[in-house]
Amino acid sequence: MIKTICCIGAGYVGGPTMAVIAQKCPHIKVTVVDLNEKRIAAWNEANTDNIPVYEPGLSAIVAEARGRNLFFSTEVDKAIEEADMIFISVNTPTKTYGVGKGMAADLKHIELCARQIARVAKTDKIVVEKSTLPVRTASAIKDILDHTGNGVQFQILSNPEFLAEGTAVADLLAPDRVLIGGDTTPEGQKAIQSLVDIYANWVPQERILTTNVWSSELSKLTANAFLAQRVSSINAMSELCERTGADVNEVARAIGMDSRIGSKFLKSSVGFGGSCFQKDILNLVYIAKTYGLNEVADYWEQVIIMNDHQKRRFAKNIISTLYNTVSGKKIAFLGWAFKKDTNDTRESAAIYVADDLLSEQAHISVFDPKVKEDQILSDLNYLETRTDTENKKGIVADENPYSACKDAHAIAILTEWDEFRDYNWQQIYDGMLKPAFVFDGRNLLDKTELEKIGFVYQSIGS
Ligand code: UDX
Ligand code: ADP
Repeated sequence: MIKTICCIGAGYVGGPTMAVIAQKCPHIKVTVVDLNEKRIAAWNEANTDNIPVYEPGLSAIVAEARGRNLFFSTEVDKAIEEADMIFISVNTPTKTYGVGKGMAADLKHIELCARQIARVAKTDKIVVEKSTLPVRTASAIKDILDHTGNGVQFQILSNPEFLAEGTAVADLLAPDRVLIGGDTTPEGQKAIQSLVDIYANWVPQERILTTNVWSSELSKLTANAFLAQRVSSINAMSELCERTGADVNEVARAIGMDSRIGSKFLKSSVGFGGSCFQKDILNLVYIAKTYGLNEVADYWEQVIIMNDHQKRRFAKNIISTLYNTVSGKKIAFLGWAFKKDTNDTRESAAIYVADDLLSEQAHISVFDPKVKEDQILSDLNYLETRTDTENKKGIVADENPYSACKDAHAIAILTEWDEFRDYNWQQIYDGMLKPAFVFDGRNLLDKTELEKIGFVYQSIGS
């Protein structure tokens, strides 16, 4: 039976997942380690409202389990040595260099973890891939462990995380399914069972699926590709709706009621973001190309092409509606996170819309309830379109939504935060230059209400 768990990587996946395991399994000691000292210090903040990942319900769980059987530490070696089971939850961003640049997942963090585990482990370990990984990564990890280890036995499991940010705690507490892939050998099956036993503390047995390692790895990529494809499909229809007089919300409702299609992931938007969709599809495309399956690669790549188009089209529409120039004009952004209820901004559509508008010399003021200015600047600097100084001149964050919108020519809604609906829109209107435009990239607000106030309101797909 597993008594001690170590999780390498205290990010959006590792942090919430381990907090829930610790809460549900008080008999297991769970230590989350990370190289990033600032991040670990933030996880250890006395006030759990200041932990580095914002997720509804997470701070209470951390408050309950931390110090009891949940620990955050930078002592990676010590935690590895103590653990019976090691989760790898480090980031696997898209490669920015060399072969597979812009497509393949960069596995350098994973490899470093594997080498560190091999060096430190003195007893048999079960190593669990939690990060989203390309198919066959497990064999690379196993290779490193077996060839550089101290002769101890390693079992590798794939246990992809399906939680969505913003609902991480709810998803972890009541998952649609838990997927565990492992070797078909008796030792592999024993390892699988030890992880099944952990989840069985709160997840019904029929929701715990076991497969071989490759099926598990590929299922994660497939799930994200299918979800992203739905968003790109409805976004493709949104442009057609705008031309034909159809309303994409009505179309989505009509098709969603077909039980074969279903109603989820049909919300037209300025484009999907987040750390997973784009990365995982690029990865799938890269894998397909590697096997010479060009049609398969092209098919999935189109999901990304559509998403890029949707982001660019949104920015273009703002420029053309504002009389073909935004130079020197103030444009207010409501929202910067890639979706509501998270402080994560990775691949957020807002970054790309801002980039296009800044290239047209707009002045942007951003209000997001959970994102601070240094994050916004670092997101833009990462694109390397402009220098940090230039970005600082073009974009500022405002701590107040009303002053963010004051004297603006237009408001662009980039994230669907609930609180935006409750604002005093009359007051916002009064403070803006006229005509006052709202470009609703999330179809969040009530068109009739805003038009009654006097706004020129444009949503996506109608
Ligand atoms: C996704 C998967 O849902 C999750 O299972 C996986 O583990 C990680 O990737 P996440 O990226 O956290 O989760 O968020 P998700 O809710 O899937 O949203 C992704 C993006 O799509 C967001 O930018 C969201 O705003 C957008 N989206 C989603 C839409 O534009 N329309 C929709 O109908 C749904
Ligand atoms: P995710 O969304 O996949 O959780 P994050 O970037 O939020 O991604 O978290 C990954 C974490 O993994 C980061 O905090 C990073 O510092 C940590 N990390 C990366 N490589 C290592 C490593 N070799 N050892 C320990 N921690 C690592």
